[in-house]
Amino acid sequence: MKKKFFNAKIYRNDAATEMIVENGKIVQIGKNLPKCEEEIDLGGKLVMPPYVDPHLHLDYVYTLSELGQEGAGSGTLFEAIELWPKFKETLTVESVKKLAIKGIHDEVSQGVQHIRTHIDVTDPNFTALKAMLEMKQDLKDIVDIQIVAFPQQGMYTYKGGRELVEEALKMGADVVGGIPHYEPAREFGEQSIHDIVKLGLKYDKLIDVHCDETDDPNSRFVELLNALVLMEDYGTRTTASHTCSFGSADNSYAYRMMDLFKKSKMNFISLPTENAYLQGRQDTYPKRRGLTRVKEFMENGINVSFGQDSINDPWYPMGNGNMMNILDNGIHLAQTMSAPEIEKVFDLITYNGARCLNLQETYGLEVGKAANFIVLNESTVYEAIRKRVDVLASVRNGEFLFRRQEMKYDIPLKL
Ligand code: FE2
Repeated sequence: MKKKFFNAKIYRNDAATEMIVENGKIVQIGKNLPKCEEEIDLGGKLVMPPYVDPHLHLDYVYTLSELGQEGAGSGTLFEAIELWPKFKETLTVESVKKLAIKGIHDEVSQGVQHIRTHIDVTDPNFTALKAMLEMKQDLKDIVDIQIVAFPQQGMYTYKGGRELVEEALKMGADVVGGIPHYEPAREFGEQSIHDIVKLGLKYDKLIDVHCDETDDPNSRFVELLNALVLMEDYGTRTTASHTCSFGSADNSYAYRMMDLFKKSKMNFISLPTENAYLQGRQDTYPKRRGLTRVKEFMENGINVSFGQDSINDPWYPMGNGNMMNILDNGIHLAQTMSAPEIEKVFDLITYNGARCLNLQETYGLEVGKAANFIVLNESTVYEAIRKRVDVLASVRNGEFLFRRQEMKYDIPLKL
């Protein structure tokens, strides 16, 4: 049966206000389309592809609450990494699923339909990975999950770390991860980058590295990662997450590197709330913002997106899966609010994230693609962002995942 969604303000498509959906796919987009058996009025609201969260740690969500006071450190990245193993020992497949589903629910109920999750594989039992591989299958009707084999404790801080990452890829992880700035010496960090790229090529996997998540401007692993994927023509399949140190780099170095990033077409993910919280901790004043060069990446056509990173874990106590909140924080910290910038910033939590995940072929509101979209409680991009509006509905394969009522006031406003 065909159904028509009408009276929509379609993001980046002024020529259309209606979509006809059949068998879960968009079959027509335009104006004054033929009548259908079922017709759904979208109330003149903004319609866009679903939010993408390209960077989330689903095996950590809500573990801060589980840890109690012991989990609350002073707020530095490296301290949180040290705290984590104590908790990791207590995990079971069921306990991971119980918390992860809360995080997934937080995100899906606020318009996310695509999540890339980094799962810690520095556990010889692969408890969290097993849980997530099952969840990925079980939940595919409501959300697409990409799994990164992420060595939280590094590949070279103990023996056998690299092998665990390789084993996780064989078990079914979609993406190779790494954390070069946590390795015990620069040379091991570099070695890990070589390994990550080799593993990506060997197993035909995407790459997403926690790269230079530090204020130290001498942490420059992004340079080696970019050079290797440029040489292998693997940039579009590669992402550098965080790259906080690039926000502290000297301009002469940064602009040279951005020329090279353009050549490789490597993707970047910035985690605005997380890194605004974690970075700059050793600074007195002035205190750095901790973000990579989001504004300059956008100006130079380098693909960059925003992610949530953490929900209530030892790294970050807040987080609720609301990508509008991430966007709002991100555009403040990156200072991207001019009128032309505002017209583009929704891409940071939609199309640009989809590119990091290599979803271009299937993602977006076009004829022939899955009828996946969200409806925002405003009719223009500017008003939606300024008011940080809710997602009123999320549609997947042509069916509502949820519909939300607009907020009503008990006391009428008197102007
Ligand atoms: Fe992360």
